[in-house]
Amino acid sequence: MAEAMGGIAGIVLAAGTGKRMNSDLPKVLHEVAGRPLVAHVLAAFEPLPLGDRVVVCSERLDDIEACCATAGFAEGVSFVVQEEARGTADALRMGLTRLGRVPETVLVMNGATPLVKTETLSALLSMHRDRGAAATLLTAELGNPTAYGRIVRGFGDEVEKIVEERDATELERSITEVNAGVYVFNYAKLERLVGEVDKANAQGEYYITDIIGMLRSAGDQVVALGTDADEIRGVKSRAHLAEVGELMRARIADTWMSEGVTIVDPRTTYIDATVTIARDALIRPFSFLEGATSIGRRAEVGPQARVMNSVLGDDSVVSFAVVRDSELGPRTSVGPFASLRQGTKLGSGAHLGSFVETKNTTVGENSKVPHLSYLGDAEIGRGVNVGAGSITGNWDGRGKHRTVIEDDVYISSNTTMVAPVRIGKGAATGAGAVVRQDVPPEALAVGVPARMIEGKGNKMAKEA
Ligand code: UD1
Repeated sequence: MAEAMGGIAGIVLAAGTGKRMNSDLPKVLHEVAGRPLVAHVLAAFEPLPLGDRVVVCSERLDDIEACCATAGFAEGVSFVVQEEARGTADALRMGLTRLGRVPETVLVMNGATPLVKTETLSALLSMHRDRGAAATLLTAELGNPTAYGRIVRGFGDEVEKIVEERDATELERSITEVNAGVYVFNYAKLERLVGEVDKANAQGEYYITDIIGMLRSAGDQVVALGTDADEIRGVKSRAHLAEVGELMRARIADTWMSEGVTIVDPRTTYIDATVTIARDALIRPFSFLEGATSIGRRAEVGPQARVMNSVLGDDSVVSFAVVRDSELGPRTSVGPFASLRQGTKLGSGAHLGSFVETKNTTVGENSKVPHLSYLGDAEIGRGVNVGAGSITGNWDGRGKHRTVIEDDVYISSNTTMVAPVRIGKGAATGAGAVVRQDVPPEALAVGVPARMIEGKGNKMAKEA
């Protein structure tokens, strides 16, 4: 049995079939700005003083829970299955069964309205409390209200009922104030009525919106808070997903610009909700910053860079490049036309230039790989120069092997390093060398396969 009464519970309705998405994926798991729709709702809940939080899911509960966990919003949240999508009132009823503690107030929100802000939810809760209402709704005026429930007002500012599009009269359909799908209820009154909702409507579903009319019939007060039309946009189709994505991107770009980031063209810049950017960074057009990415101070990204789950240090520069699961130290530069794959780590001042691909490779401080190289499973020390066309042969057809290049090595153009292999400190290779055995420190490795000439290593490193 539930505990003592008090506080606010949050319930997210996320079990709908989402037919118009025409997808194998539950609607609420489609992403905008790198986050599933339902996780945006949980993110908006996060700063609010909510007690229990419940997400009502379809039979894909495990997937929904896993995606919310990956997005970092599953902690302290309960997930419950609504076995059949019998309507929003039925989903709410399921959600209420999961509350561990009897709340005073319940905040209910559709799981596919990712643009509703925490400030708006906060204002809705305050209005509900200040007015002592039985229910408080979020509404907006829409130029085209098609598909949304219409708000039927009575005298004063009270709401009489919500009529769904399919059940509305022509007159009601002409109403442009719509239901956002965000509600605050007095728990005791809600609990009494939710089981009494019937499905006598065009869709044969249990509508949460019927509870509003039921409360009014019982003489209870229902009020509404109006907000911006864009904020309440719900996703019902792929076209909506794109529209909502565009609005979300503009909002994210505005936020970073107000934090002191230059975004040359926000319309062609795609920054996930999960990204952080330090002051005075510069993001040029056609750039994609995705996942758990953070961009350092004064870093320059783009044009045409895709950076995923990566850290870019202060004053780093990445242009015309793809950077995935990598860490770039301060003052590093990458591109144009480079592909940094998972596990690339660049020490401060390192440079990867045109047509360079790396994977699971560390490049030490001030080392340069300026052109046309593949470095996989390699550890490269400081002050190393890797000449054009040089590669690590890390795959022998059966397994991967490591290449180690110690500090101050000079790799001449077109060197092939057949792993496992180690090039000693201060060594060098001749152009076109195929290095199949370890090169001692200070030696020069030449030829195919490379021969060793003791003591003739990287002269430049010695002179420096
Ligand atoms: C609902 C509202 C409508 C409002 C609109 C705002 C109802 C009856 N109507 O419309 O007034 O203008 O949202 O977007 O509520 N869901 C379940 N279980 C179900 C059915 C739906 O969990 O059985 C969830 C969906 O996953 C979704 C939310 O409830 O997140 C709303 O459902 P959706 O079908 O998107 O909204 P509508 O019913 O069209």
